[in-house]
Amino acid sequence: MPPTEPIVRTPRCVVIGYGQAGRSIHAPLIRLTAGLELAGVCTRDPGRRATAVADLACHTWDDYTTVLADPTIDGVVLATPTADHVSQALAALAAGKHVVVDKPVCLDPADLDRLAAAERASGRSLVVFHNRRWDGDYLTVRRLLAAGVLGQLRVVEMGWGARGRPRSWRATRAGGGGRVYDLGAHMIDQLCQLMPSPPLTVYARMHAPLPDQDVESHAHLVLGFRDGATGVIETGYLAALPRPRFRLIGSDACFEKHGLDPQEEALRSGNLDGARENEAHYGWLSDGTTRSRVPTVPGYWRGFYEAVRDHLVTGAPNPVPLASVRTPVAVIAAAFRSAERGTVEPILVA
Ligand SMILES: NC(=O)c1ccc[n+]([C@@H]2O[C@H](COP(=O)([O-])OP(=O)(O)OC[C@H]3O[C@@H](n4cnc5c(N)ncnc54)[C@H](OP(=O)(O)O)[C@@H]3O)[C@@H](O)[C@H]2O)c1
Repeated sequence: MPPTEPIVRTPRCVVIGYGQAGRSIHAPLIRLTAGLELAGVCTRDPGRRATAVADLACHTWDDYTTVLADPTIDGVVLATPTADHVSQALAALAAGKHVVVDKPVCLDPADLDRLAAAERASGRSLVVFHNRRWDGDYLTVRRLLAAGVLGQLRVVEMGWGARGRPRSWRATRAGGGGRVYDLGAHMIDQLCQLMPSPPLTVYARMHAPLPDQDVESHAHLVLGFRDGATGVIETGYLAALPRPRFRLIGSDACFEKHGLDPQEEALRSGNLDGARENEAHYGWLSDGTTRSRVPTVPGYWRGFYEAVRDHLVTGAPNPVPLASVRTPVAVIAAAFRSAERGTVEPILVA
C-alpha cells in the first residue's frame, strides 16, 4: 500500500540503535542513498552516541520518545534488539512516522496483525529490512530459476552459521536471540521467495543450548512445500566448516555455491561499491554430464533504501511489505514448536 501522503521533500530518518546493524549497515546505507537524509542516531549509551558523532558528525538522541515527538522526522529505522521491534514499531506508527524494521520483524506471528492494523490506521508505511533479497548469490539463483535451467525445482538447501558464542540479548530466546531468528530469518525468507509454492509443514531438530544460554546451539529445519518440493535450512554456533550457502536440485540440473555475499564486509570497510566476490566462490552448475562455473550476479544492497525512498516520495511499491514476511515468521514459530514436540508441524499463516 503506498503511504497516504507522499513526502514532497527529502525524507529525514533516524536510525534507532547504533550496534552492529545500526552502525555497520543502516547508517552507511542511508548515507549512500541520494534523496534520503540521515537526520541522526538514537541510542541510550553515551559511548555509542559519541561513536555515532565521530563516525557521522550527526545529531544524536538518547531517548526514542523524543525522536517520535520531533515533527521534522519522517521515519525511523529500528536497528534495535529483536524483542523490541513490535512495541517500537507500534509507537512510531502511532506517532505518524514511517518505519523500517530490521529482521525478524517480530517473534510471535500474532503481532503481525497488530502491526498491519497500526500501519493501516496510520497511513504510514512499515518496511521490513530483508537486505538479503539483494544478495548476489540469491540474485544468481533467481536468475537461474527464471531461465529454467534447473528444470522442476525439487530441493533447496541453505546453510549459514558461524562457530561462536552469542552474547547479551542474542543469548536469550525471549530476546529473539539464537541463529534461527538471526541467520535463519534471512534464509527462510529467501527460501519462501524462491519456491514456486508455499510451505505447508516443517520438521525441526534443534540441539541443546550452549552452557549458560537458552538458545539453540545448532538447528536443522526441513520444510515441505505444496508442490512436493523440500527446503532444508541449517544454522547454528557449532559447525566449524560450512555447508554450501545454496544447493538446488532440479529435475534437469543441480546448482551449488559456497561463500557469503561480500557487501556487509565492504560496507564495514567503507567501500560498498568495491564489494567483489572471490571467484573461488562462484557456483557450480551440473546436469550430470557437464559441469560449469556460474559467475555471481553482483549484489545490490543499495536497492533496498533506493526502493524505500521511491516508495515514500513517488508512491512506488513498498519493497518488503509486512504481508511478504507472514510466511517466514510463521515458519520460524512452527519450527520452534516442532523442535519442542518432536513433530511435523503445519505452517499456519494468518
Ligand atoms: N539485516 C541484517 O543483515 C542484520 C545484521 C545484523 C543485525 N540485524 C538485526 O538488527 C537488530 C539489531 O541487532 P544488532 O546486532 O545491531 O544489536 P546490537 O549490536 O545489540 O545493537 C542494538 C542497539 O539498539 C540500542 N537500543 C536498544 N534499545 C533501545 C532503545 N529503546 N532506544 C534506542 N536504542 C536502543 C542499543 O543501544 P543502547 O542500549 O545504548 O540504547 C544498541 O545500540 C536485530 O533485530 C538483528 O536481527 C540485521
